[in-house]
This record gives sequence, structure tokens and C-alpha cells, in this order.
Amino acid sequence: MNQQTLLLIKPNAVMHKHAGNIISIIETKAFLLRDIKVMQFTPEAAAAFYQEHLGKEFYDRLIKFMCSGTTIALLLEKANAVADLRELVGDTDPAKRKPGTIRHLYAEGITENAVHASDSPEHAQREIRLIFGSPQYPKLSH
Ligand code: CMP
Repeated sequence: MNQQTLLLIKPNAVMHKHAGNIISIIETKAFLLRDIKVMQFTPEAAAAFYQEHLGKEFYDRLIKFMCSGTTIALLLEKANAVADLRELVGDTDPAKRKPGTIRHLYAEGITENAVHASDSPEHAQREIRLIFGSPQYPKLSH
């Protein structure tokens, strides 16, 4: 059964014009693109999105970075979408990023890490609701 997840192409990757390449990588791995939004986080929206990280050492850096420019949000769908996208995105820790992963290709540091992918089906539904307003359902027949 298909599952939905959220990918954010973060401000550093958009600014360096990596968005097209990142979407291309996603498409080659059989994810269906169900919705897309070009947006800029406000501090309030970023705080709501990253509420679980409130109080952590990197929180203020993260919020400032996420508000620093354009973000592109993608609502993606396939079987096992959450785990498969996390694998394709690569590790948060730069030392653990495998070659070929999106972060290995495009991350510039632990904060400026090019992309965010939901880490569980529950978080995916929450994040999709925050960004797209409500969970999206199939609009196309393929
Ligand atoms: P993301 O997958 O969007 O989830 C939380 C974000 O916090 C992470 O990517 C990074 O951009 C940022 N971050 C900065 N420092 C750390 C850290 N030490 N551990 C985890 N996330 C961090």
C-alpha cells in the first residue's frame, strides 16, 4: 500500500540551484510527486514545524537558517515512502553520509543539510498537514 511523506528542499539547496537535480533523483527512485509548494518559512511556521527540537543546542541556528530563503516542499508517495526517502536523503551526521545520498551530494554542514525528510509515518502526516493544509489523497490515476 502506498504511503505519503514530506521532503523539504532547504534554503541552501534552493539558493545553489540544486532543486532540479534533487527532484530528478527522487523521480528515478519511483516516488510519485503528489503536490509541491514554493514557500518561505516565517519564524512562527518554522517553530511549529520543528517544535520537537525546541530547547536543543542547535534550535536557534535551525530556525534562522530555515527562514533565510526559499524552501520547496514536496508531497511524495510510494510503498514504504518514509523509510525509502530517509535512506535516499542520508544521515544527519556528515561523517555517516553514504555516497550517492542527497545530503552527501548537496549538504554543506549539519544545519545546512540541503533537505528534510519526515522520520515516521505519524510525523509525515503532521508535517504534510502543516505545509499543505491537510493530508493529500491521490489526484492522478498513475
Ligand atoms: P532535519 O532533518 O530538518 O531535522 C532537524 C534539523 O536540525 C536537521 O535536519 C538539521 O538541519 C538541524 N540540526 C543542526 N544540528 C543538528 C544536530 N546536532 N542534530 C540534528 N539536527 C541538527
